[in-house]
Amino acid sequence: MIYLDNSATTFPKPKEVYDFMDHFYRTHGVNPGRSGFDAAIETGELVSDTRKMLTNLFNGGGDFNRLTFSYNATDSLNMIIQGLALEHPGCHVITTMLEHNSVLRPLYTLEQRGQIEVTYLPFDERGYVSPDDVKKAIKKNTKFMVCTHCSNVIGTIQPLAEIGKVCHENGLIFVVDGSQGAGAVDLDMQAQNIDVYCFTGHKCLMGPTGIGGSYVREGVTIGQTRFGGTGVRSAVPGHLEEYPYRLEAGTLNLLGVAGLNAGVKWIMKEGIMNIHNREMVLWKKLRDGLKEIEGVTIYCATSVENQNPVLSFNVKGWDSSDVGTMLDVDYDIACRIGLHCAPKVHEGLGTINCHGSVRFSVGAFTTEQEIDTAIEAVKDIASMKN
Ligand SMILES: Cc1ncc(COP(=O)(O)O)c(C=O)c1O
Repeated sequence: MIYLDNSATTFPKPKEVYDFMDHFYRTHGVNPGRSGFDAAIETGELVSDTRKMLTNLFNGGGDFNRLTFSYNATDSLNMIIQGLALEHPGCHVITTMLEHNSVLRPLYTLEQRGQIEVTYLPFDERGYVSPDDVKKAIKKNTKFMVCTHCSNVIGTIQPLAEIGKVCHENGLIFVVDGSQGAGAVDLDMQAQNIDVYCFTGHKCLMGPTGIGGSYVREGVTIGQTRFGGTGVRSAVPGHLEEYPYRLEAGTLNLLGVAGLNAGVKWIMKEGIMNIHNREMVLWKKLRDGLKEIEGVTIYCATSVENQNPVLSFNVKGWDSSDVGTMLDVDYDIACRIGLHCAPKVHEGLGTINCHGSVRFSVGAFTTEQEIDTAIEAVKDIASMKN
């Protein structure tokens, strides 16, 4: 299989991730933070070590307990968005048309319940949201903004520092959906004015599925929406308010944390921007190759700067699902078709009524030969109708 669906989840993972997960779970598969025997303490140390590594990777701040784990980005975005709405009832929220349903649906639901009001900012023809539009959208009761780090459909990396600056100048909390950004490109929460960064472990952080989390900077209050066991101060009737317990209830996905730990070590060893630059060379070859084919329309993808290795396109005369099926059945190429859980991106691109687009996403283990094969495959498919 030629795997060009790395935006859905990176595959394969580095060998070190599989090996460490297997080893760690066999030797330390016990509940961290609940007991005082050696294995439980060592397991707790792995969890703390992973919190520290991610806090440093994101440059979140001094308190690594504010790095909390969850199932995935969706889970954390739900907690953060609902927690902020709880703190600011009736507030106005700004978001963008680039968002994934993990942002759109919690916001929509809260708006339907009359708890918040939402403004959706458009993106320009190159695929970027303008900080000036953020400024113009701010109202007296605007309390927070949620923006994706990188679009999962067109791969554009958003101008977070500039958007964050506008948010901070106007007293807004800036929340970033880092699903496609964490581990994909360098990040500095403090320099980029980001208050809350939500991430998922199974994409560019190279961990397994079922682990994700968020970092909440000091000074930001997230209302609590989850309650349960923490392993400490069990006689207290209410859920603990301090981090990490504030956003963590119940037993952690320890195997996920172990895999994430090994994944983050691997990307740090390789160098995040080394991996990114290698992928972008392949992305450019892919884009330039597809651009030459008659009947192929590529969306955005105007520059290698501020861009992730993701490419959306359509082939004239074909539905994106037909292209996906032919790529799979005839060429053994795995990709993604449709709306990619981001319907408003397709409203902006004008592809909402033609079943979205075909998406190729390059990963750390993609080869040049695989890109050549993908270009030839699309050429064959296009030639049947053009
Ligand atoms: C931009 C974006 N946000 C959020 C998510 C949700 O990630 P997860 O399914 O791991 O929660 C994805 C997943 O594809 C994504 O691409």
